Amino acid sequence: MNILQITTSVRGDASESTRVTNQIVARLVAANPGATVVRRDFGAQPHPLLDGAALGALFTPADQRTAEQLARVQLDDALILEAQAADVIVLGAPMYNFAMPVQLKSWFDAIARAGVTFRYTETGPEGLLKNKKVYVAAARGGVYEEANDPQVPQMRALLNFLGLTDQTFIYSSGMAMGPDAVANGQAAANAAIEKALA
Ligand SMILES: Cc1cc2nc3c(=O)[nH]c(=O)nc-3n(C[C@H](O)[C@H](O)[C@H](O)COP(=O)(O)O)c2cc1C
Repeated sequence: MNILQITTSVRGDASESTRVTNQIVARLVAANPGATVVRRDFGAQPHPLLDGAALGALFTPADQRTAEQLARVQLDDALILEAQAADVIVLGAPMYNFAMPVQLKSWFDAIARAGVTFRYTETGPEGLLKNKKVYVAAARGGVYEEANDPQVPQMRALLNFLGLTDQTFIYSSGMAMGPDAVANGQAAANAAIEKALA
């Protein structure tokens, strides 16, 4: 089993989403002793933004790219290869300003590549990252009902678009609502991990 662990919190050891991803990965490794784990901590080492230079590099034919453009495309290529090789992807998803952090969005921006991880057919888009399990550790300061969650629908849409349809979201809610709420939110996340990875 190849496990890809992506963490994106900027809060270092205080991060709840990173804590949950670590627990999920530990569970997976315990159940699959031969598993390999590739870790990316974009909170500590952000992937570069999708800017004009990055897009220009991507749309320049490979044999005409400058050394700088080649290097930029290779950064994204590496993330695509990791995602393709993974059987299980474990994503840390803090909620910052009602959305996923830019660190996580940059990972999606890097791996969403036409003809490689998705394509358009006559019947619509087709995700090409198939047969993978995705766990998402969603940590948030508040508590959101599913119907008014501002962050999760976009993540689900992006994952579905790429073919990553087998999703389990683990919620740590109330992380900014005082010690009791933090304890309750963490306990709920721990129970959800137990249930999902029993
Ligand atoms: C810059 C910033 C913005 C935040 N915005 C929100 C928000 O919009 N809604 C919310 O419920 N919590 C928000 N929070 C609280 C975080 O979601 C909470 O601290 C959560 O634990 C973050 O995940 P992490 O611990 O993995 O970093 C924000 C926190 C920070 C630091």
